[in-house]
Amino acid sequence: MESSKITIFSPATIANLSCGFDVLGLALEGIGDRMTVGLTPEKGVRISQITGADLPMEAEKNVAGVAALALLRATDYQGGVVIEIEKQILPGSGIGSSAASAAGAVWAVNKLLGDPFTPERLVGFAALGEALASGAAHADNVAPALYGGITLIRSYDPLDIARIHCPPLLYATLLHPQIELKTSDSRSILKRTISLEKGIRQWGNVGGLVTGLFTEDYGLISRSLEDGIIEPLRSLLIPGFDDLREAALGAGALGFGISGSGPSVFALSRGKETALQTEQSLISCYSSLGIPFKTYTSAISKNGVRLWNAQTDILT
Ligand code: HSE
Repeated sequence: MESSKITIFSPATIANLSCGFDVLGLALEGIGDRMTVGLTPEKGVRISQITGADLPMEAEKNVAGVAALALLRATDYQGGVVIEIEKQILPGSGIGSSAASAAGAVWAVNKLLGDPFTPERLVGFAALGEALASGAAHADNVAPALYGGITLIRSYDPLDIARIHCPPLLYATLLHPQIELKTSDSRSILKRTISLEKGIRQWGNVGGLVTGLFTEDYGLISRSLEDGIIEPLRSLLIPGFDDLREAALGAGALGFGISGSGPSVFALSRGKETALQTEQSLISCYSSLGIPFKTYTSAISKNGVRLWNAQTDILT
């Protein structure tokens, strides 16, 4: 054990990437939460402070608490941990707010205990936090939050996670309408079955997107950023969705879709300039709607949760 208290940065993430519901995700640069985690002689998990959001302080009702408790139960460590959370990612925004808390907690506790667990095990613990938040232990936000870059959940049982190559010119643009959409609600509207025809098109797109990312084939990435299963249902919950898509594609983005379960939407672009043009185009499109919103343009972060670095981890 090197130190009994550390401060970490846990990044925001975009899950699904249109075609990859519950399996694909990426980590964002410069948008994330800060957490300070320390070891204590008292058993269990204590949340000492939460700033930036109104979230439960009881460990069993808090995603970071639940994830950290799951990890502690899998060790023979006799003490406990104390967690302080500074939320920058609004809960219900669609950019992995609960995932950042859960991933940050397990990464930090693992580090303080001398790294007993593999990243894959950490994803398993953190996904239990997601289960508390949304009713489903989906790992497509916690995996990129922990690994960085772009990840694929090849299998949930057993967990099998693959890192996907990230072309260096890939940028993400986000627009976050300031309305709250709970993941549990936007999951409850989904159909439980799909037709074979839709399945064929969707797994063709997942394969196409992964191939396009590995070969840096932007045309293939662009054609594959399509979702015929989830988006038609969820986009109805996001005001102005179709106009935003037109605005993003008109500005030259490779593709456009819902970030995780929404309400944030995202576009991927080749190069920072196009990503910034896309951001401007989304701003012009949304300004007339009367719904407050925020936008960000971000590179894809190669790193997942990491020790806080005051020089590079600027909170927005
Ligand atoms: N895959 C999850 C969903 C991500 O779409 O419900 C939630 O952020």
